[in-house]
Parts: sequence; C-alpha cells; structure tokens
Amino acid sequence: MRDELLTARGIDKSFYGVKVLDGVDFTLHGAEIHALLGENGAGKSTLVKILTGAYRRDAGHMALVGAEVEPRSVAEAQALGIGTVYQEVNLLDNLTVAENLYLGRQPRRMGLVDHRRMRRDAAALLARYGIAADPDETLSHYSVAVRQIIAIARAVDLSGKVLFLDEPTASLDAREVQALFTVLKQLRDQGLGIVIITHFLDQVYQIADRVTVLRNGRMVGSRAIAELPRRDLVALMLGRDLAEATAHRAAGDAPLAAPDTPAAFQFTDYGKRGSIAPFDLAIRPGEVVGIAGLLGSGRTETARLMFGIDRPDSGSAMVDGLPVALTSPEAAIAQGFGMCPEERKTDGIVGDLSLRQNIVLALQARRGWACPVPRREADAIAARYIKALDIRPPDPDRPIKFLSGGNQQKAILARWLATDPRLLILDEPTRGIDIGAHAEIIALIQQLRADGMALVVISSEIEELVAYATRVIVLSDRHHIRELTGDQISAQSIVAAMALPGDLPAEGAA
Ligand SMILES: Nc1ncnc2c1ncn2[C@@H]1O[C@H](COP(=O)(O)OP(=O)(O)OP(=O)(O)O)[C@@H](O)[C@H]1O
Ligand SMILES: [Mg+2]
Repeated sequence: MRDELLTARGIDKSFYGVKVLDGVDFTLHGAEIHALLGENGAGKSTLVKILTGAYRRDAGHMALVGAEVEPRSVAEAQALGIGTVYQEVNLLDNLTVAENLYLGRQPRRMGLVDHRRMRRDAAALLARYGIAADPDETLSHYSVAVRQIIAIARAVDLSGKVLFLDEPTASLDAREVQALFTVLKQLRDQGLGIVIITHFLDQVYQIADRVTVLRNGRMVGSRAIAELPRRDLVALMLGRDLAEATAHRAAGDAPLAAPDTPAAFQFTDYGKRGSIAPFDLAIRPGEVVGIAGLLGSGRTETARLMFGIDRPDSGSAMVDGLPVALTSPEAAIAQGFGMCPEERKTDGIVGDLSLRQNIVLALQARRGWACPVPRREADAIAARYIKALDIRPPDPDRPIKFLSGGNQQKAILARWLATDPRLLILDEPTRGIDIGAHAEIIALIQQLRADGMALVVISSEIEELVAYATRVIVLSDRHHIRELTGDQISAQSIVAAMALPGDLPAEGAA
C-alpha cells in the first residue's frame, strides 16, 4: 500500500449558479502517474485549477501528505509542493532558458542577480532531465516541445511533490511525446505524483498507472489502468458504449467527385521563402486533401499561405480557372475559403463575446461590418450549430471564455461552417476534443465532402487521415515531398514518408 500524497474530498464548484464540480473525490499516490479523463466540459481543468490554487473551491477538503491544505494562489500551492504546467506554457519567449528557469527567484549576490550561478544551476537542471538546451539561448529559439519540458523542469524544481499537466501533449508530435514521457517516468520513479489530462487514450495506456474519470462534474470511477480494459474506460467516460455513441456515423462512403471534375482551386509553384518551399496543389469539389507531417514540417505554413494570412513570394493561385490574389484572409474569404486555425486561443476565440457572436463572426466579416447579421438569423445559426456539434452548455449568450477548451474548439468550427465555404481548411480539427465528439467531427467531414465541399485537413492523427482523406500530401522539412492517393493511403505508407526531424531533447541523457 503506497502512501496517499494528495487527497481531495467532496469538492464542489459552481459558476453563476451552475454546479460544474459536485462532491468530487480524488486521490493521488506518490510515485504514480494518474490520468484525469472525461468528456469536454466534464470539469477536469476546473478540478486542476482548484487543486493548484488558481480557483477557490466552494466546499470540500484537500490534504497533502495527510495535512489539510488550502492554497489560495498558484504561488501558495507551489510553496506547498504542488506545481502546474497549464496548456499554454507560461514562460517568456524573449528571455533566456536560464532566466525562465529562475524567473522570480534568481540567485543573488550582494543585491545583484548572480548570472554565473544562475547559468550553472540551470545547466545542472537541464542535464538532470536530459534537456538538450543552452541556458544562454533565448527560449523562442526552441520548439514547443522543448519549451514544455523546460516548463516542467521549472515546475518540478519549484515544487517537487506533485505535478499537474493539463493536456501537455496536445501540440506535440509522436516523437516529442515520447521525449516528454521519458521525463515523466523519470520523475515518477523519483517519487513524484503526476496528474495528466489528455484526450489521447493510447497515451493513457502507455503512461498512466491509474485513471480517474469525471462525467458532468462527478467522479464516476478511479481504477488502476491494468484493471480497466479500453472498452470499459470509454463506457465510463461516455456513460454509454462508444458503438452506441457513434452509431449514426456509418452513413456509408459517399462516392468521390468524378475524377474529371475540374479543380476549382489551383495553387501553382506557390511558396514563401523560409516558410514553405513552392508547391503545386489542385483541389476538386468533394475532395478531402489530408496534410500529414511532423510538427514544424510546414503544415500550418501551407495553410496560412493558402488562406492569405502569409503572402507568397512565388507562384500563383486560381479559383475556377481565374487568377486570384490571396493577399489577406478577407480576400480568401471573398473567394469562398474558410479556415479553422490550430491556435484557438490566439487566432480563434474572442473570449468576451458570447458563443453566438463567436459563431457568426466569420459570416459577419464576409458580409461586411456595415450590414450586421440580423439577430434572428444569428439565433438560428447559433442554434443549428450548437445542436449539430453538441456544444455544451448550449447557451448562446454565455461568454465563450467560460466554455471548456473542447467546446471552444467546436465553436470555432461552427464559425467557419456558418460561412458555407467552398474550400474549408481545418488545422487539427479534433485536437483537444473528446472521443465522442471526435467521431462526430469525422462524420461531419465526410458529410461535407459528400455535399461537394472541398476540404484541406491538417492532422497529426494518421488513422484519422486514413479514414477520411481522398488524397494525402506528406510534408517534411517545409517541402511537399509525397502525394498518396487511393490504395496508397495507409498509416504505414504515411509514416514511411515522414522523415525524422532534429531539434529534440536528447533521450536518456540524464
Ligand atoms: N471561469 C469559468 N466561468 C464559468 N464557467 C466555467 C468557467 N470555467 C469552466 N466553466 C464551465 O465549467 C464546466 C467544466 O469546464 P472545464 O474547463 O473544467 O472542462 P474540461 O473537462 O477541462 O473540458 P475540456 O476537455 O473541453 O478541456 C464547463 O461547462 C465550463 O463551461
Ligand atoms: Mg480542459
């Protein structure tokens, strides 16, 4: 019997009279990796914020190594030994690695920051976790994955008993996930208790010792992973069978647009130096072009260029055989393009606007701000997509910042569907979305294609691409290196085409 490290009993939390956590019990042991699971909006992030001092609970108790604690702030929780890495890594890009590691607690000598000591300590800390980063380099030099591991090193160095990670792997590629897991296992073996939130069940089975499942704000089960077959876990999360949840999607494969349909959208020799090498791409209505490649391979850059966020310095674009200048997103929208970005926090949601206003935003931009979308039409559109995508809570007046991460993601997708685009570019449409909604979004992509929309879908989920893409472009090192069609599309051939990048923490160097 291992020792209980962190226990929470009967945690309640309401927002505006709505109970989002209801009598939640949670127990974390030392030397354990514990996955906190549940559908979008189940209350996972809220529970973590309470246990890490970011929110105050309404009721309940919390104890660390048997002693009651009541952290009133993230700093207080840290001082107690409870560290957190939120999904948006809270480091400062323009400071050095060492400065980030010792932010707010720089070693001092005679009143001044002792830079030599800080660098030396930082180097030792990096070496301990096998992080191949230079203490004197600015943080912006490193990939998201490396930054994330640096954030973890900082959190553990600060706190050292309990570590909370809210969807840490959401923007990492497969190799980076393994590098992160190597560090987490090492920390677990040193006795730390680690709580990780993720929607990737494969990762849960790979790394977790135990899982706790939340559903609608209640704790519905806590088990050792070895005693919980995947089917049972899914049933626990959904409160029903996955087969049942996805039954309506086996609508059958719609036939492909006839191969001689002319390409409505054509990019020739299209590229931008330092961002993406010139590529040719012709897209017909009813096609789903999947874009595969590792993080940093140029997937998002391809999308940004096509949508006019970045400007090309070579090549040309045509729509229906006529040249077009995609010099801005507005110009692309005018041509019938839509794009759902990867970074919903920075490029997507407008936090203070309501769910309804967020949904009609792109439609409004397309029609021009001079003629506001009438309230009745906005109500109808919001109602339609809230229902179609099962956005929860289904309250169009609620400021979107109060929705859970996954529900915000669905709202952004609704925004672009509302413009009824001819070409829809989706950058990681299922990231951060729970398994039930996952299946719904895949079904939706297939439906849109059958209705004659052209789609370009960027995804790190290779199995997903295989399920819906009619063509897959593989990117590596900012080049379009391979195009797979028909029978060539398989997980194996996609993986085989993806080259291995550099720039990762050295593995096992500790
Ligand atoms: N600051 C807030 N104000 C009002 N409501 C909130 C706030 N934070 C969360 N909620 C609501 O609490 C519920 C739980 O949200 P939470 O973010 O904890 O879900 P989650 O399980 O992390 O979901 P996801 O997987 O989508 O990230 C949701 O219905 C959400 O709308
Ligand atoms: Mg969350």
